[in-house]
Amino acid sequence: MSYSTTAIAHPNVALIKYWGKSNLTENIPSTPSISITLSKLETKTTIVEDDFDTIWINQKKINDEKILRFLSQIREKTGIATIKIETENNFPTGSGLASSASGFAALATALNQHFSLGFTQSELSTIARKGSASSARSIFGGIVSLQGPSWKARSIEQDGEWPLRIIIAKTSSERKEISSSEGMKLTRETSPFYQPWVKEAQKDFDDCLSAIKNQDFEKLADLSEKSCLKMIGTMLSTSPSLIYWNPTTLACVHAIKKMRTAGKAVFFTTDAGPQIKAICTSESAEEVTKSLSNIVGPTNIIDCEIGGDARIV
Ligand code: PMV
Repeated sequence: MSYSTTAIAHPNVALIKYWGKSNLTENIPSTPSISITLSKLETKTTIVEDDFDTIWINQKKINDEKILRFLSQIREKTGIATIKIETENNFPTGSGLASSASGFAALATALNQHFSLGFTQSELSTIARKGSASSARSIFGGIVSLQGPSWKARSIEQDGEWPLRIIIAKTSSERKEISSSEGMKLTRETSPFYQPWVKEAQKDFDDCLSAIKNQDFEKLADLSEKSCLKMIGTMLSTSPSLIYWNPTTLACVHAIKKMRTAGKAVFFTTDAGPQIKAICTSESAEEVTKSLSNIVGPTNIIDCEIGGDARIV
């Protein structure tokens, strides 16, 4: 009798961003990155052996090329059977909340258990990276780094060691028109800012590692906002330009900047989408939530803590 296996993984938000790839076949980023894994938001993926590979996301059958390619890569290596994949996200899919990061991390974790593949977490992170590079980071909880030459993610701070909060302001539920993969390819090919971006990334990464080690919030805030804005700069200067922000995103950025100038421990970051992520200390969380609620409405606020590892349930 065929039995099923279910895994859960959390999305992550990058503080030091990756945008651009140096090797398309292996899906290797051109810049190192650092992220925080998010509690509360999760992807739950159940797999069961079936006659064909089929994919259901939020109860809708879809033909996802990226997932099918990922499955054939794993199948080539391990000979796994064909499967039915059922995935549920408790947050909007494909709108800049890293659903592909948690999605591939949950799928890799479920496959590992279901077919007794025996991969370590570190090996799973390499496997998940083939689906989506940010997914390598979602295998781990806490604050996570992803850098060469191995391009395996690792946890540099576990949850609880530095109790940061991540307050998400959802400014739109629409799917983005240009995926991250397509967008970063265009940036690499056309943005005059792409090479400087890649050149400065290692220093930003190293400085951020030391800010985290010293729990230096101000330094982390400066480095993270700069990394985000530099990435946005490469997006804006891409042809055709990639504008993922909307007017509400910008209103939230201004509100966060205002709180930061007034001395609150908070900073913003955004990804390939319009959602705002405010990172703050627990002391600042109430005011940050109030301020962002005034802009997007209380139902569009998600208050997260630092999340844990991808796991079997
Ligand atoms: O992992 P991908 O290929 O979906 O790209 C994610 C890129 C950003 O979210 C914009 C930045 C990052 O480092 O997560």
